[in-house]
Amino acid sequence: MSAPTSEQTFVPGALDRSAPFYVAGHRGLVGSAVWRTLEKEGFSHLIGRTSAELDLKDRAAVFDFFREQRPRYVVLAAAKVGGIVANNTYPVDFLSENLQIQLNVLDAALEARTERVLFLGSSCIYPRLAPQPIVEDSLLTGHLEPTNDAYAIAKIAGIMQIQAVRRQYGLPWISAMPTNLYGPGDNFSPTGSHVLPALIRRYDEARTAGAPSVTNWGTGTPRRELLHVDDMAAACLHLLEHYDGPSQVNVGTGTDVTIRELAETVARVVGYEGETQWDTSKPDGTPQKLLDVSRLADAGWRASISLEDGLRSTVEWYRENVGALRT
Ligand SMILES: NC(=O)c1ccc[n+]([C@@H]2O[C@H](COP(=O)([O-])OP(=O)(O)OC[C@H]3O[C@@H](n4cnc5c(N)ncnc54)[C@H](OP(=O)(O)O)[C@@H]3O)[C@@H](O)[C@H]2O)c1
Repeated sequence: MSAPTSEQTFVPGALDRSAPFYVAGHRGLVGSAVWRTLEKEGFSHLIGRTSAELDLKDRAAVFDFFREQRPRYVVLAAAKVGGIVANNTYPVDFLSENLQIQLNVLDAALEARTERVLFLGSSCIYPRLAPQPIVEDSLLTGHLEPTNDAYAIAKIAGIMQIQAVRRQYGLPWISAMPTNLYGPGDNFSPTGSHVLPALIRRYDEARTAGAPSVTNWGTGTPRRELLHVDDMAAACLHLLEHYDGPSQVNVGTGTDVTIRELAETVARVVGYEGETQWDTSKPDGTPQKLLDVSRLADAGWRASISLEDGLRSTVEWYRENVGALRT
């Protein structure tokens, strides 16, 4: 790599609506929401590629793509993502694929001197027992949750790469760490999904089948924070327009609920009237995950979609798309 040549001063304000803007992972939960938001906001030169069209693990293809398209802005929302079962069962895949995807995209973006890059990580980068709510500075201060440590390490490497590019090349790239997200386009597969889509599917199937009870994993006592993906997409654009700094920025609502409360709310919203049981022989995962969102608030952004409202529209989307969901 050459010496720093491309220092850019960040000027807060609206991004250029006509500039080429690449959304990596534009068909995923986050990427599709970012795409919708950018379209609504009047961006006229959006670029997206499916993994079949451009495998981001293919380094040469990624460099060719950046040389050809020269995006001015990039949101990196492509990743191998999964729930507790998938992360725990396939740690090599989560580590290796995510390292490859982000290394290729960030290296190619550097060569192309992409002006603004937003790298997306996840709240699992923080230590398992980090004081709650979790501040950005608790990164690398303790042991990770073992069920998704391989994934977390890949994401931590991504944050470091963003910081390193800032330091060595002076480019105003940033990263954001969302809490648990949900919404239209989520992964509802029984083994690959996160807690909320898994609950929606389980309770809706139980309602349809007239099942007398539903069994959930664990004790139901862990606490989780949930952010609607349209809020997340709005936060991404806000950060690109208003935030510049080396630290990753937490993105969440700043409030959490127990899994038990969440299950009750899902049961109510889907209209399931049977019983709920808890299989306490199964792992709970991290006891609490609540992000401190002061830095985001300082940057001028707050979540606006309530859990109840977000849940209703997500259940509607699930029912409309149940025949065509990812497996
Ligand atoms: N979901 C959450 O609760 C959550 C929470 C915190 C952080 N995040 C972060 O947000 C980001 C996106 O997550 P998500 O939930 O939107 O995931 P997702 O719905 O599974 O979408 C991931 C996207 O990545 C693309 N992708 C995966 N491997 C690829 C490859 N080799 N080449 C090209 N594209 C590839 C896929 O493209 P195709 O569809 O074309 O195959 C897919 O659309 C991740 O970095 C994740 O850590 C998510």
